[in-house]
Amino acid sequence: MRKMNAVITAVGGYAPDYILDNHELSQIVDTTDEWIMTRVGIRERHILKGEGKGTSDMAVEAVKQIFDKTGTHPDEIDLVICATVTPDHVFPATANIVSDKLNIRNAHSFDLNAGCSGFLYALDTASKFIEAGAKKKVLVIGADKMSSIVDYTDRTTCVLFGDAAAAVLLEPTHEPVGVIDSILRSDGFGRVYLNMKAGGSVKPASHETIDNREHYIFQDGKHVFKHAVSRMADVSVEMMNKHNIAPEELAWLVPHQANMRIIDATAERMGIDKNKVMVNIQRYGNTTAATIPMCLVEWEKQLKKGDNIILAAFGAGFTWGSLLLKWGYDPQ
Ligand code: UT7
Repeated sequence: MRKMNAVITAVGGYAPDYILDNHELSQIVDTTDEWIMTRVGIRERHILKGEGKGTSDMAVEAVKQIFDKTGTHPDEIDLVICATVTPDHVFPATANIVSDKLNIRNAHSFDLNAGCSGFLYALDTASKFIEAGAKKKVLVIGADKMSSIVDYTDRTTCVLFGDAAAAVLLEPTHEPVGVIDSILRSDGFGRVYLNMKAGGSVKPASHETIDNREHYIFQDGKHVFKHAVSRMADVSVEMMNKHNIAPEELAWLVPHQANMRIIDATAERMGIDKNKVMVNIQRYGNTTAATIPMCLVEWEKQLKKGDNIILAAFGAGFTWGSLLLKWGYDPQ
């Protein structure tokens, strides 16, 4: 029997209208456009404004694009996975809320938290359901409203993050395209370098946790940077070697968009030309689980059936990984 593969058949993405640029940030904290551009490479980020608006609202917009493009009916979806670190609520899962808002009633749905590697983990998980023959139409969403956990008095983190959501539709195929392989890793030693200190079961919200600003992102940037550079490149090079893919045979690298310097270092280690690396960090900043699918949305028209694409990420946990895709369709 021929192997069943899981292939991306459609993509959709959404970034909110409001743009927070470096100039505006420099009026809020002691920073400059020059520092942010040279150290990180971000010019602006999109921010979700509006009372009562959360991650699910952006995810819904991303999935609607997929429904519109493909004519898929909500009843056809049989699994929804939402990768996020900024769920609408601690529970129920944002995937449940997205499903409700889109009238998806024949699926099971759950959230997956793997920091900035969330989309890779979710895509890998979804592909297993399809390869096993258990599911036929799966929505994999990466969505984060990072502005809800950013401390806009902390210049070391507030310049980095933005809000966005993007999604892919994953379906079965017997063709040799789709998710080919993944190398996923995690090591909890890194949890002290990137986290949110309060709001979980160890330290529930209290006056004290609020006074201490412990419901915001904490990051020891230098440590995270060091590990991100080596680990993202290690697994991506390992993937190329495992599948005998020479740099010229790789059509695209889709790196998590956390820092331009991390992206450049990863591409260099892989021997990939800069023009094969998807980079949109300038316009969105780090949108955590949304960075990688958002790149796929923006580059969709340049992707051709059979293209070798490596997705690579590193994030809180630490979590990291690379995933090899053979793109499944030509531009329409
Ligand atoms: O997506 C999840 C994974 N996250 C990442 O991959 C992020 C990894 N880390 C990074 O990208 C970088 O470490 C940062 C962009 C967060 C920081 O860049 P850096 O080159 O490591 O800067 P630094 O933390 O070593 O700070 C250098 C200086 C410090 O000043 P002093 O102590 O040398 O006087 C900072 O206080 O830059 C200062 N600084 C700033 N200056 C202006 C830190 N943030 C800013 C700022 N504007 N926004």
